[in-house]
Amino acid sequence: MTDLRVILVGLGARSRVWRRVLANDPSSRIVGVVDTDAANLAAALAELPDAVGGRALEEVAERVDADAVILITPPGGREAQIAAACAARLAILAEKPLADTFAAAQAHTARAAAAGVPLSVGLNFRYMPVTRALKALFADDRLGQPEIGRFLYERWRDGRQARLNKYPLTMDQPMLWEQSIHHFDLMRFVYGREPVAIAARTWNPSWSMYAGDANVAALISFEGGLEVTYQGTWAANWDHLGFDWRSDCPGGIAVQRDMFGDLAYARRDDKTLTQVDLPHFETWIDDAAGLWAEFAAHLRGAGPLPCPATDHLNSLRMVEACIRAAATGQTITLNAPTVAAEPSGAALDTSNSSPTERMTQ
Ligand SMILES: NC(=O)c1ccc[n+]([C@@H]2O[C@H](COP(=O)([O-])OP(=O)(O)OC[C@H]3O[C@@H](n4cnc5c(N)ncnc54)[C@H](O)[C@@H]3O)[C@@H](O)[C@H]2O)c1
Repeated sequence: MTDLRVILVGLGARSRVWRRVLANDPSSRIVGVVDTDAANLAAALAELPDAVGGRALEEVAERVDADAVILITPPGGREAQIAAACAARLAILAEKPLADTFAAAQAHTARAAAAGVPLSVGLNFRYMPVTRALKALFADDRLGQPEIGRFLYERWRDGRQARLNKYPLTMDQPMLWEQSIHHFDLMRFVYGREPVAIAARTWNPSWSMYAGDANVAALISFEGGLEVTYQGTWAANWDHLGFDWRSDCPGGIAVQRDMFGDLAYARRDDKTLTQVDLPHFETWIDDAAGLWAEFAAHLRGAGPLPCPATDHLNSLRMVEACIRAAATGQTITLNAPTVAAEPSGAALDTSNSSPTERMTQ
């Protein structure tokens, strides 16, 4: 099968993961790299000497035949990148969050749909074995459907570290847009239910290095009588990641005590928790690779588009509801979820047509 030809846009911290994932995939090839930062562009071209490099996607897409683009830029200001990908008929895998406002994410989604271009979002946490195993615990009768959830994420995130991106330091709501979005997506994915109402507070402790609020507390009501208390912070004042996601069900509890694993369950009268065996996996790489495999399969005409933007909008709605709830002190009622309406059945045209002639679906 012909290689899938990929352009990477944004060559910062997260691009290292995508470069490794694509290097490990014998049926994909990076043919173009784009960054507005000359040093990051030069470093990527030194690593990928056969790739075409440039400062803008439209310029690189003119110079090289490609099938897909991975957007690994900061979420704000992606309009030109989405427009260029649509104009060149490149399927898009955009890192989360799709945008830094709900309205912009909606506009990107509509633009891609109008152009017939598949648009996926990088929700790699869905592809961790622990996530799949937790979801499976609720799929049989062992525990039944959760009615109480408690999701705790406490991290001292030193945003000044060289290996980390810098733009969240000045975002309005960095915790919500950059981190809680993963957690909200996980809740919707694992529970298989949509939120119906959110009450929330966001704030910044005195020692936070972030300009915007690094702390979020929310009470999220899901359809079917599930209430989840959520506490997430990037300003926990101990440099030790705290993760604890417990779900109480009619038949007992499930608890995940590590972001990447440590899943267990118990029935009410059990003396100890029963550990769930999980396969070994390489964090950050295998999860992104799982998403990539499904995205690539879709472009080849096999399987649905993974993590479609239309679905992602429902998690972004939760972010915006938290912001509104915190600003107004009110409980925000959520409208009916967006139904996935991505272009489907995309088949990769492996001919040597020019980027502007090629349709990826
Ligand atoms: N899924 C995950 O687990 C995960 C983890 C980390 C980051 N991310 C996401 O990846 C994205 C990028 O994060 P990062 O940590 O790599 O940020 P970063 O700041 O380290 O890198 C962003 C790169 O994009 C470049 N850039 C900015 N504007 C551009 C433009 N208009 N055109 C071309 N290049 C441009 C910058 O020069 C920089 O090199 C964000 O959406 C972030 O939330 C996802």
